Amino acid sequence: MYFHGTTKVNDKGHLEIGGLDTIELAEKFGTPLYVYDVALIRERARSFKNTFEKLGITAQVAYASKAFSSIAMFQLAKEEGLSLDVVSGGELYTALAAQFPVEKIHFHGNNKSREELEMAMEHQIGCIVVDNFYELELLSTICAEKGMQANILIRVTPGIEAHTHDYILTGQEDSKFGFDLQNGQAETALRTALDSHSLHLLGIHCHIGSQIFDTTGFVLAARKIFEKLNEWKNNFSYEPQVLNLGGGFGIRYTSEDDPIPAFQYVEEIIEEVKTQAGRFLMKMPEIWIEPGRSLVGDAGTTLYKVGSRKEVPNVRQYLAVDGGMSDNIRPALYQAKYEAVLASRPLAKAEETVSIAGKCCESGDMLIWDLPLPKAETSDLLAVFCTGAYGYSMANNYNRIPRPPVVFVENGEARVVVKRETFADLIRFDLPLTEKVKN
Ligand code: LLP
Repeated sequence: MYFHGTTKVNDKGHLEIGGLDTIELAEKFGTPLYVYDVALIRERARSFKNTFEKLGITAQVAYASKAFSSIAMFQLAKEEGLSLDVVSGGELYTALAAQFPVEKIHFHGNNKSREELEMAMEHQIGCIVVDNFYELELLSTICAEKGMQANILIRVTPGIEAHTHDYILTGQEDSKFGFDLQNGQAETALRTALDSHSLHLLGIHCHIGSQIFDTTGFVLAARKIFEKLNEWKNNFSYEPQVLNLGGGFGIRYTSEDDPIPAFQYVEEIIEEVKTQAGRFLMKMPEIWIEPGRSLVGDAGTTLYKVGSRKEVPNVRQYLAVDGGMSDNIRPALYQAKYEAVLASRPLAKAEETVSIAGKCCESGDMLIWDLPLPKAETSDLLAVFCTGAYGYSMANNYNRIPRPPVVFVENGEARVVVKRETFADLIRFDLPLTEKVKN
Protein backbone atom coordinates (compact mmCIF):
# COMPACT_ATOMS: atom_id res chain seq x y z
CA MET A 1 0.00 0.00 0.00
CA TYR A 2 1.27 3.45 -0.94
CA PHE A 3 0.87 6.18 1.71
CA HIS A 4 1.08 9.84 0.70
CA GLY A 5 2.55 12.65 2.80
CA THR A 6 2.28 12.21 6.57
CA THR A 7 -0.07 9.22 6.26
CA LYS A 8 1.31 6.22 8.08
CA VAL A 9 0.48 3.42 10.48
CA ASN A 10 0.78 4.42 14.16
CA ASP A 11 1.76 2.44 17.26
CA LYS A 12 -1.76 1.13 17.63
CA GLY A 13 -1.66 -0.18 14.08
CA HIS A 14 -4.18 2.46 12.99
CA LEU A 15 -4.01 4.78 10.02
CA GLU A 16 -2.59 8.15 11.02
CA ILE A 17 -2.64 11.44 9.09
CA GLY A 18 -1.00 14.68 10.20
CA GLY A 19 0.00 13.02 13.47
CA LEU A 20 -3.59 12.07 14.31
CA ASP A 21 -5.26 8.69 14.58
CA THR A 22 -7.98 8.48 11.93
CA ILE A 23 -10.15 6.31 14.19
CA GLU A 24 -10.16 9.14 16.73
CA LEU A 25 -10.81 11.73 14.00
CA ALA A 26 -13.87 9.78 12.89
CA GLU A 27 -15.10 9.47 16.49
CA LYS A 28 -14.68 13.17 17.06
CA PHE A 29 -15.99 14.58 13.78
CA GLY A 30 -18.20 11.77 12.48
CA THR A 31 -18.27 10.18 9.05
CA PRO A 32 -18.06 10.66 6.15
CA LEU A 33 -15.17 13.02 6.77
CA TYR A 34 -12.73 14.70 4.41
CA VAL A 35 -9.30 14.88 6.05
CA TYR A 36 -6.60 17.08 4.51
CA ASP A 37 -2.90 16.62 5.19
CA VAL A 38 -1.85 20.27 5.34
CA ALA A 39 1.88 19.52 5.45
CA LEU A 40 1.57 17.71 2.14
CA ILE A 41 -0.24 20.64 0.51
CA ARG A 42 2.55 22.92 1.72
CA GLU A 43 5.19 20.52 0.40
CA ARG A 44 3.54 20.37 -3.03
CA ALA A 45 3.21 24.17 -3.20
CA ARG A 46 6.84 24.67 -2.21
CA SER A 47 8.05 22.13 -4.70
CA PHE A 48 6.46 24.07 -7.60
CA LYS A 49 7.56 27.46 -6.30
CA ASN A 50 11.11 26.47 -5.34
CA THR A 51 11.84 25.03 -8.75
CA PHE A 52 11.04 28.35 -10.43
CA GLU A 53 13.07 30.22 -7.82
CA LYS A 54 16.03 27.86 -8.12
CA LEU A 55 16.12 28.37 -11.86
CA GLY A 56 15.71 32.14 -11.56
CA ILE A 57 12.45 32.31 -13.47
CA THR A 58 9.86 34.97 -12.67
CA ALA A 59 6.71 32.96 -12.12
CA GLN A 60 3.32 32.70 -10.54
CA VAL A 61 2.00 29.40 -9.26
CA ALA A 62 -1.76 29.88 -9.19
CA TYR A 63 -3.79 27.35 -7.26
CA ALA A 64 -6.67 26.23 -9.50
CA SER A 65 -9.23 26.60 -6.79
CA LYS A 66 -11.93 24.55 -8.53
CA ALA A 67 -10.08 21.51 -7.15
CA PHE A 68 -11.12 22.47 -3.62
CA SER A 69 -12.24 25.91 -2.59
CA SER A 70 -12.91 27.08 0.92
CA ILE A 71 -11.83 30.06 2.96
CA ALA A 72 -9.24 28.09 4.92
CA MET A 73 -7.81 26.57 1.75
CA PHE A 74 -7.44 30.03 0.24
CA GLN A 75 -5.75 31.25 3.41
CA LEU A 76 -3.36 28.33 3.19
CA ALA A 77 -2.65 29.17 -0.46
CA LYS A 78 -1.96 32.74 0.63
CA GLU A 79 0.40 31.55 3.38
CA GLU A 80 2.32 29.56 0.79
CA GLY A 81 2.62 32.55 -1.53
CA LEU A 82 0.47 31.05 -4.26
CA SER A 83 -1.70 32.99 -6.66
CA LEU A 84 -5.29 31.92 -7.22
CA ASP A 85 -7.27 30.87 -10.27
CA VAL A 86 -11.02 31.37 -9.86
CA VAL A 87 -13.68 30.52 -12.41
CA SER A 88 -16.85 32.03 -11.03
CA GLY A 89 -18.26 34.83 -8.93
CA GLY A 90 -18.64 32.28 -6.14
CA GLU A 91 -14.98 31.31 -6.11
CA LEU A 92 -14.03 34.99 -6.35
CA TYR A 93 -16.35 35.82 -3.46
CA THR A 94 -14.72 33.08 -1.36
CA ALA A 95 -11.27 34.43 -2.21
CA LEU A 96 -12.33 37.94 -1.17
CA ALA A 97 -13.82 36.57 2.05
CA ALA A 98 -10.47 34.86 2.71
CA GLN A 99 -8.79 38.23 2.13
CA PHE A 100 -6.71 36.72 -0.61
CA PRO A 101 -4.42 39.36 -2.18
CA VAL A 102 -6.54 40.62 -5.07
CA GLU A 103 -3.60 41.31 -7.33
CA LYS A 104 -2.79 37.59 -7.32
CA ILE A 105 -6.25 36.44 -8.40
CA HIS A 106 -6.79 35.32 -12.00
CA PHE A 107 -10.32 35.01 -13.32
CA HIS A 108 -11.14 32.20 -15.76
CA GLY A 109 -14.30 30.96 -17.42
CA ASN A 110 -15.91 30.60 -20.80
CA ASN A 111 -19.07 32.49 -19.92
CA LYS A 112 -18.34 35.16 -17.35
CA SER A 113 -21.36 37.33 -16.79
CA ARG A 114 -21.42 41.13 -16.76
CA GLU A 115 -21.93 40.98 -12.98
CA GLU A 116 -18.93 38.69 -12.53
CA LEU A 117 -16.69 40.87 -14.68
CA GLU A 118 -17.85 44.00 -12.86
CA MET A 119 -17.15 42.33 -9.54
CA ALA A 120 -13.64 41.41 -10.75
CA MET A 121 -12.97 44.96 -11.94
CA GLU A 122 -14.38 46.61 -8.84
CA HIS A 123 -12.06 44.52 -6.68
CA GLN A 124 -9.15 45.18 -9.02
CA ILE A 125 -8.09 41.58 -9.31
CA GLY A 126 -4.77 40.70 -10.93
CA CYS A 127 -5.95 39.57 -14.33
CA ILE A 128 -8.82 38.28 -16.38
CA VAL A 129 -8.22 35.36 -18.67
CA VAL A 130 -10.35 36.29 -21.66
CA ASP A 131 -11.91 33.29 -23.32
CA ASN A 132 -13.97 34.52 -26.29
CA PHE A 133 -15.00 37.49 -28.44
CA TYR A 134 -18.16 38.14 -26.46
CA GLU A 135 -16.11 38.56 -23.30
CA LEU A 136 -13.51 40.71 -25.02
CA GLU A 137 -16.23 43.15 -26.02
CA LEU A 138 -18.12 43.01 -22.74
CA LEU A 139 -14.97 43.59 -20.70
CA SER A 140 -13.92 46.54 -22.89
CA THR A 141 -17.37 48.07 -22.44
CA ILE A 142 -17.29 47.60 -18.65
CA CYS A 143 -13.79 49.08 -18.44
CA ALA A 144 -14.80 52.05 -20.58
CA GLU A 145 -17.86 52.65 -18.38
CA LYS A 146 -15.77 52.52 -15.24
CA GLY A 147 -12.79 54.37 -16.67
CA MET A 148 -10.57 51.41 -15.80
CA GLN A 149 -8.09 49.21 -17.57
CA ALA A 150 -8.11 45.43 -17.20
CA ASN A 151 -5.01 43.26 -17.22
CA ILE A 152 -5.80 40.33 -19.43
CA LEU A 153 -4.42 37.09 -20.75
CA ILE A 154 -5.85 35.68 -23.94
CA ARG A 155 -6.68 32.00 -23.65
CA VAL A 156 -5.70 30.09 -26.76
CA THR A 157 -6.30 26.50 -27.79
CA PRO A 158 -3.11 25.29 -29.38
CA GLY A 159 -4.65 22.19 -30.94
CA ILE A 160 -3.29 19.73 -28.43
CA GLU A 161 -5.53 17.65 -26.26
CA ALA A 162 -3.96 15.61 -23.51
CA HIS A 163 -5.71 12.52 -22.26
CA THR A 164 -3.47 11.34 -19.48
CA HIS A 165 -0.95 9.36 -21.53
CA ASP A 166 -2.18 10.24 -25.01
CA TYR A 167 -1.93 13.47 -26.94
CA ILE A 168 -4.20 14.24 -29.80
CA LEU A 169 -3.04 16.85 -32.22
CA THR A 170 -6.03 18.38 -33.90
CA GLY A 171 -5.91 20.98 -36.65
CA GLN A 172 -8.71 23.03 -35.22
CA GLU A 173 -9.49 22.00 -31.71
CA ASP A 174 -13.08 21.23 -30.87
CA SER A 175 -13.27 22.92 -27.48
CA LYS A 176 -15.63 25.30 -25.79
CA PHE A 177 -12.66 27.15 -24.32
CA GLY A 178 -10.42 29.79 -25.80
CA PHE A 179 -9.42 31.22 -29.14
CA ASP A 180 -8.12 28.82 -31.73
CA LEU A 181 -4.48 29.41 -32.55
CA GLN A 182 -4.55 27.99 -36.06
CA ASN A 183 -7.69 29.44 -37.61
CA GLY A 184 -6.90 33.09 -36.98
CA GLN A 185 -9.25 33.65 -34.03
CA ALA A 186 -6.40 34.06 -31.56
CA GLU A 187 -4.77 36.63 -33.80
CA THR A 188 -8.01 38.59 -34.16
CA ALA A 189 -8.37 38.55 -30.37
CA LEU A 190 -4.80 39.72 -29.95
CA ARG A 191 -5.27 42.62 -32.36
CA THR A 192 -8.53 43.62 -30.69
CA ALA A 193 -6.83 43.62 -27.29
CA LEU A 194 -3.83 45.57 -28.56
CA ASP A 195 -6.13 48.17 -30.14
CA SER A 196 -8.23 48.62 -27.00
CA HIS A 197 -7.40 51.37 -24.51
CA SER A 198 -9.38 49.51 -21.87
CA LEU A 199 -7.35 46.32 -22.03
CA HIS A 200 -3.76 45.70 -21.10
CA LEU A 201 -2.59 42.49 -22.68
CA LEU A 202 -0.22 40.74 -20.27
CA GLY A 203 0.15 37.63 -22.36
CA ILE A 204 -1.15 34.27 -23.45
CA HIS A 205 -2.78 31.40 -21.61
CA CYS A 206 -3.41 27.80 -22.51
CA HIS A 207 -4.51 24.69 -20.62
CA ILE A 208 -4.25 21.37 -22.40
CA GLY A 209 -5.98 18.96 -20.05
CA SER A 210 -5.91 17.29 -16.67
CA GLN A 211 -4.22 14.33 -14.93
CA ILE A 212 -1.30 14.44 -17.36
CA PHE A 213 1.66 12.22 -16.52
CA ASP A 214 4.53 13.68 -18.53
CA THR A 215 5.62 16.90 -20.18
CA THR A 216 5.15 16.07 -23.87
CA GLY A 217 1.88 18.01 -24.15
CA PHE A 218 3.23 21.08 -22.36
CA VAL A 219 6.32 21.08 -24.57
CA LEU A 220 4.23 20.74 -27.73
CA ALA A 221 1.90 23.51 -26.60
CA ALA A 222 4.78 25.86 -25.81
CA ARG A 223 6.32 25.16 -29.21
CA LYS A 224 3.08 25.87 -31.09
CA ILE A 225 2.43 29.03 -29.14
CA PHE A 226 5.93 30.36 -29.77
CA GLU A 227 5.64 29.72 -33.49
CA LYS A 228 2.57 31.96 -33.45
CA LEU A 229 4.21 34.47 -31.11
CA ASN A 230 7.03 34.78 -33.60
CA GLU A 231 4.52 35.79 -36.30
CA TRP A 232 2.95 38.27 -33.90
CA LYS A 233 6.35 39.68 -33.03
CA ASN A 234 7.12 40.22 -36.71
CA ASN A 235 3.68 41.52 -37.68
CA PHE A 236 2.64 43.53 -34.63
CA SER A 237 5.87 43.97 -32.65
CA TYR A 238 4.13 42.14 -29.83
CA GLU A 239 5.99 40.08 -27.23
CA PRO A 240 4.14 38.69 -24.19
CA GLN A 241 5.18 39.48 -20.65
CA VAL A 242 3.45 36.31 -19.41
CA LEU A 243 3.01 32.81 -20.71
CA ASN A 244 0.54 30.79 -18.63
CA LEU A 245 0.65 27.08 -19.43
CA GLY A 246 -2.25 26.07 -17.22
CA GLY A 247 -2.49 23.10 -14.89
CA GLY A 248 -3.14 19.42 -15.34
CA PHE A 249 -0.15 17.83 -13.62
CA GLY A 250 -1.06 14.25 -12.78
CA ILE A 251 -1.11 12.54 -9.41
CA ARG A 252 -0.94 8.94 -8.24
CA TYR A 253 -4.44 7.72 -7.41
CA THR A 254 -3.59 4.02 -7.72
CA SER A 255 -0.61 1.86 -8.64
CA GLU A 256 -1.68 2.26 -12.29
CA ASP A 257 -0.66 5.94 -12.20
CA ASP A 258 2.96 6.95 -12.56
CA PRO A 259 3.30 10.74 -12.74
CA ILE A 260 6.62 12.54 -12.73
CA PRO A 261 7.32 14.75 -9.68
CA ALA A 262 6.17 18.39 -9.67
CA PHE A 263 9.65 19.86 -10.03
CA GLN A 264 10.25 17.84 -13.18
CA TYR A 265 7.19 19.29 -14.94
CA VAL A 266 8.40 22.75 -14.06
CA GLU A 267 12.02 22.13 -15.09
CA GLU A 268 11.06 20.73 -18.46
CA ILE A 269 8.52 23.47 -19.14
CA ILE A 270 11.12 26.13 -18.32
CA GLU A 271 13.67 24.40 -20.51
CA GLU A 272 11.30 24.39 -23.49
CA VAL A 273 10.21 27.99 -23.02
CA LYS A 274 13.88 29.04 -22.85
CA THR A 275 14.65 27.08 -26.01
CA GLN A 276 11.72 28.58 -27.90
CA ALA A 277 12.39 32.13 -26.70
CA GLY A 278 16.01 31.69 -27.82
CA ARG A 279 14.96 30.20 -31.15
CA PHE A 280 12.87 33.25 -32.01
CA LEU A 281 15.09 35.82 -30.28
CA MET A 282 12.32 36.79 -27.90
CA LYS A 283 12.63 37.91 -24.31
CA MET A 284 11.96 35.23 -21.72
CA PRO A 285 8.36 35.65 -20.51
CA GLU A 286 7.20 35.11 -16.94
CA ILE A 287 5.91 31.56 -16.67
CA TRP A 288 2.64 31.03 -14.83
CA ILE A 289 1.12 27.66 -14.04
CA GLU A 290 -2.21 26.62 -12.50
CA PRO A 291 -1.99 23.34 -10.61
CA GLY A 292 -5.18 22.22 -8.89
CA ARG A 293 -5.21 18.46 -8.45
CA SER A 294 -1.45 18.20 -7.92
CA LEU A 295 -1.59 20.62 -4.97
CA VAL A 296 -4.45 19.07 -3.03
CA GLY A 297 -5.41 15.73 -4.58
CA ASP A 298 -3.24 13.27 -2.69
CA ALA A 299 -3.50 15.35 0.49
CA GLY A 300 -7.17 14.42 0.88
CA THR A 301 -8.49 11.20 2.42
CA THR A 302 -12.17 10.43 2.96
CA LEU A 303 -13.17 8.38 6.00
CA TYR A 304 -16.39 6.39 5.72
CA LYS A 305 -18.16 4.01 8.04
CA VAL A 306 -18.96 0.58 6.64
CA GLY A 307 -22.64 -0.31 6.85
CA SER A 308 -24.47 -3.02 4.98
CA ARG A 309 -23.07 -5.93 3.02
CA LYS A 310 -24.72 -7.67 0.14
CA GLU A 311 -23.44 -10.87 -1.38
CA VAL A 312 -24.41 -11.81 -4.90
CA PRO A 313 -23.33 -15.46 -4.68
CA ASN A 314 -20.46 -16.32 -7.03
CA VAL A 315 -20.54 -12.79 -8.42
CA ARG A 316 -19.69 -10.04 -5.98
CA GLN A 317 -19.60 -8.79 -2.41
CA TYR A 318 -20.99 -5.29 -2.09
CA LEU A 319 -19.88 -3.34 0.95
CA ALA A 320 -21.82 -0.12 1.44
CA VAL A 321 -20.47 3.01 3.13
CA ASP A 322 -22.21 6.06 4.57
CA GLY A 323 -21.32 8.36 1.65
CA GLY A 324 -20.86 7.90 -2.07
CA MET A 325 -21.43 9.90 -5.23
CA SER A 326 -22.74 12.76 -3.11
CA ASP A 327 -19.25 13.34 -1.68
CA ASN A 328 -17.21 11.86 -4.55
CA ILE A 329 -18.83 11.81 -7.95
CA ARG A 330 -15.61 11.05 -9.82
CA PRO A 331 -15.98 7.23 -10.00
CA ALA A 332 -19.54 7.57 -11.34
CA LEU A 333 -18.67 10.41 -13.69
CA TYR A 334 -15.24 9.42 -14.99
CA GLN A 335 -14.81 5.80 -13.88
CA ALA A 336 -12.06 7.21 -11.67
CA LYS A 337 -10.17 4.66 -9.58
CA TYR A 338 -9.15 4.91 -5.95
CA GLU A 339 -7.29 2.86 -3.34
CA ALA A 340 -8.59 2.32 0.18
CA VAL A 341 -7.74 0.57 3.43
CA LEU A 342 -9.45 -0.22 6.71
CA ALA A 343 -8.30 2.51 9.08
CA SER A 344 -8.08 0.12 12.05
CA ARG A 345 -5.73 -2.29 10.25
CA PRO A 346 -4.34 -0.72 7.07
CA LEU A 347 -1.62 -3.31 6.61
CA ALA A 348 -3.72 -6.42 7.37
CA LYS A 349 -3.70 -9.06 4.66
CA ALA A 350 -6.57 -8.95 2.17
CA GLU A 351 -9.02 -11.80 2.70
CA GLU A 352 -11.66 -10.97 0.14
CA THR A 353 -12.42 -8.76 -2.83
CA VAL A 354 -15.25 -6.33 -2.26
CA SER A 355 -16.86 -3.55 -4.23
CA ILE A 356 -17.52 -0.35 -2.31
CA ALA A 357 -21.01 0.99 -2.85
CA GLY A 358 -22.30 4.40 -1.88
CA LYS A 359 -25.65 4.97 -0.19
CA CYS A 360 -27.31 6.92 -2.99
CA CYS A 361 -30.34 5.61 -4.79
CA GLU A 362 -28.53 4.89 -8.01
CA SER A 363 -26.81 1.71 -9.26
CA GLY A 364 -23.94 3.78 -10.63
CA ASP A 365 -23.13 5.02 -7.14
CA MET A 366 -20.06 2.87 -6.68
CA LEU A 367 -16.84 4.20 -5.18
CA ILE A 368 -14.42 1.34 -5.85
CA TRP A 369 -14.84 -1.87 -7.81
CA ASP A 370 -12.95 -5.02 -6.80
CA LEU A 371 -10.99 -3.81 -3.82
CA PRO A 372 -8.89 -6.40 -1.98
CA LEU A 373 -9.62 -5.93 1.74
CA PRO A 374 -9.40 -7.76 5.05
CA LYS A 375 -12.79 -9.01 6.20
CA ALA A 376 -14.63 -5.77 7.06
CA GLU A 377 -17.37 -5.58 9.65
CA THR A 378 -20.18 -3.09 10.01
CA SER A 379 -18.81 0.08 11.69
CA ASP A 380 -15.29 -0.50 10.42
CA LEU A 381 -13.75 2.65 9.05
CA LEU A 382 -12.79 2.75 5.38
CA ALA A 383 -10.18 5.32 4.33
CA VAL A 384 -10.28 6.21 0.64
CA PHE A 385 -7.10 7.96 -0.48
CA CYS A 386 -6.49 10.86 -2.89
CA THR A 387 -9.92 12.45 -2.66
CA GLY A 388 -8.58 15.97 -2.08
CA ALA A 389 -9.22 17.31 -5.58
CA TYR A 390 -12.70 17.54 -7.11
CA GLY A 391 -14.20 15.61 -4.20
CA TYR A 392 -15.67 18.24 -1.90
CA SER A 393 -15.77 20.77 -4.75
CA MET A 394 -18.04 18.51 -6.80
CA ALA A 395 -20.04 17.24 -3.83
CA ASN A 396 -23.79 17.54 -4.01
CA ASN A 397 -26.95 16.90 -2.06
CA TYR A 398 -28.37 14.10 -4.19
CA ASN A 399 -30.94 12.22 -2.11
CA ARG A 400 -30.70 15.10 0.34
CA ILE A 401 -27.54 13.73 1.83
CA PRO A 402 -25.73 16.46 3.78
CA ARG A 403 -22.21 17.27 2.64
CA PRO A 404 -19.46 16.01 4.98
CA PRO A 405 -17.21 18.39 6.88
CA VAL A 406 -13.60 19.13 5.98
CA VAL A 407 -10.90 18.80 8.61
CA PHE A 408 -7.36 20.09 8.20
CA VAL A 409 -4.77 18.10 10.14
CA GLU A 410 -1.20 19.20 10.77
CA ASN A 411 1.38 18.42 13.45
CA GLY A 412 -1.10 16.55 15.62
CA GLU A 413 -3.79 19.23 15.46
CA ALA A 414 -7.17 19.03 13.76
CA ARG A 415 -9.19 22.02 12.65
CA VAL A 416 -12.65 21.91 11.11
CA VAL A 417 -12.53 24.22 8.10
CA VAL A 418 -15.90 23.37 6.59
CA LYS A 419 -18.72 22.35 8.90
CA ARG A 420 -20.90 19.31 8.31
CA GLU A 421 -24.20 20.21 6.67
CA THR A 422 -27.27 19.54 8.74
CA PHE A 423 -30.74 18.48 7.69
CA ALA A 424 -31.82 22.03 8.52
CA ASP A 425 -29.24 23.32 6.02
CA LEU A 426 -30.80 21.11 3.39
CA ILE A 427 -34.17 22.80 3.62
CA ARG A 428 -32.98 26.34 4.21
CA PHE A 429 -33.98 27.54 0.74
CA ASP A 430 -37.24 25.57 0.61
CA LEU A 431 -40.49 27.48 0.92
CA PRO A 432 -43.82 25.89 1.76
CA LEU A 433 -46.65 26.08 -0.73
CA THR A 434 -48.58 28.40 1.54
CA GLU A 435 -45.95 31.10 1.60
CA LYS A 436 -45.81 33.71 -1.14
CA VAL A 437 -42.34 34.26 -2.60
CA LYS A 438 -41.22 37.82 -1.99
CA ASN A 439 -38.93 39.33 -4.56
N1 LLP B 1 -6.41 25.72 -15.34
C1 LLP B 1 -7.50 25.59 -16.10
C2 LLP B 1 -7.80 26.63 -17.10
C3 LLP B 1 -8.35 24.49 -15.94
O1 LLP B 1 -9.42 24.38 -16.72
C4 LLP B 1 -8.05 23.52 -14.96
C5 LLP B 1 -8.94 22.37 -14.75
C6 LLP B 1 -6.90 23.69 -14.17
C7 LLP B 1 -6.10 24.81 -14.39
C8 LLP B 1 -6.51 22.74 -13.09
O2 LLP B 1 -6.29 21.45 -13.57
P1 LLP B 1 -5.67 20.34 -12.57
O3 LLP B 1 -4.27 20.78 -12.24
O4 LLP B 1 -6.52 20.26 -11.39
O5 LLP B 1 -5.70 19.09 -13.39
N2 LLP B 1 -13.43 17.54 -12.48
C9 LLP B 1 -12.34 16.89 -13.18
C10 LLP B 1 -11.22 17.84 -13.52
C11 LLP B 1 -11.67 19.04 -14.31
C12 LLP B 1 -10.53 19.97 -14.57
C13 LLP B 1 -11.02 21.24 -15.17
N3 LLP B 1 -10.01 22.21 -15.37
C14 LLP B 1 -11.85 15.73 -12.34
O6 LLP B 1 -12.41 15.48 -11.28
O7 LLP B 1 -10.92 15.02 -12.73
